Amino acid sequence: MTVLAHTRLDIRPLSVFTGAEIFGVDLRQPLDGDHVRQIRDALHKWKVVFFRDQHIDHAQHLAFAEHFGKPTYAHPYDAVPPEGYPQIRPISSASKTGRRGERWHTDVTGVVNPPIASILRANDQVPEFGGDTLFTNLAVAYANLSEPIKRLADTLWARHQFGGYNGDFENQTEYAQKVKANPIVSDHPVVRVHPETGERLLFVNPGFTRRILGVSEEESRHLLALFFEEIVRPEYTVRFRWQPGSIAFWDNRATAHQGPGDFAYLDVERVLYRITLEGDIPVGIDGRQSVPVIGAPFKALAAA
Ligand SMILES: [Fe+2]
Repeated sequence: MTVLAHTRLDIRPLSVFTGAEIFGVDLRQPLDGDHVRQIRDALHKWKVVFFRDQHIDHAQHLAFAEHFGKPTYAHPYDAVPPEGYPQIRPISSASKTGRRGERWHTDVTGVVNPPIASILRANDQVPEFGGDTLFTNLAVAYANLSEPIKRLADTLWARHQFGGYNGDFENQTEYAQKVKANPIVSDHPVVRVHPETGERLLFVNPGFTRRILGVSEEESRHLLALFFEEIVRPEYTVRFRWQPGSIAFWDNRATAHQGPGDFAYLDVERVLYRITLEGDIPVGIDGRQSVPVIGAPFKALAAA
């Protein structure tokens, strides 16, 4: 057993900036502290890490997540968790609400403390092809802005809300009704500082960011178009193909992600299970913290 505690995990990067696969660990077993450190370090470096052939159940998924933070309830509005696992959110390719993932987004940034990380796992029912997930790196997106645009972005704040850039939902789905009845809205710095790596992150996303504050609606639209285009440059992204037993674990402070809608055309339902870890409150480069506008923080479940 002590031998395992000192093994180096096999970490294989998938692109220059973003994403690495991790081999050499069995997630059916409890992790030792050294492996937790190695996985966390890889997560901070590569922003999203992937595991293959980890055929774990809900309890093992939860045990893995608890090494890295405190699991929240499944979702602020929208979840039918599996019996006995209120922290787990099933995401089905067949559900209409699942298709919201088609827009690039960072998870749950409508709340004042968006999750620090999400851990998404495939069960054994995965299409042979199609239904990939894309991830991008908000640190490199910021780092590669020109100096004048960085200086501008550093001063800006943005409003994030469920309903996102398009504002209120126009449709009448049950989800849209829940959002309208109980809006969740927060203001975040456009550039947040990662509390563990110190990196500056371009923290806006089309799924939740409604507008830039303190500028005209038209200026906001142009600024967001610039930032949204920047965060999804192909060279910052990685595309992950799901297989039975695959797991994606992303730093939700430093990434955005998207599920292209191609799975809607497949005749195989793909079910993924997600756990999110309670987030800290974002901090801008001047030390100011994000501010809730409407709605409660998204907290960890109290211990049973
Ligand atoms: Fe998501």
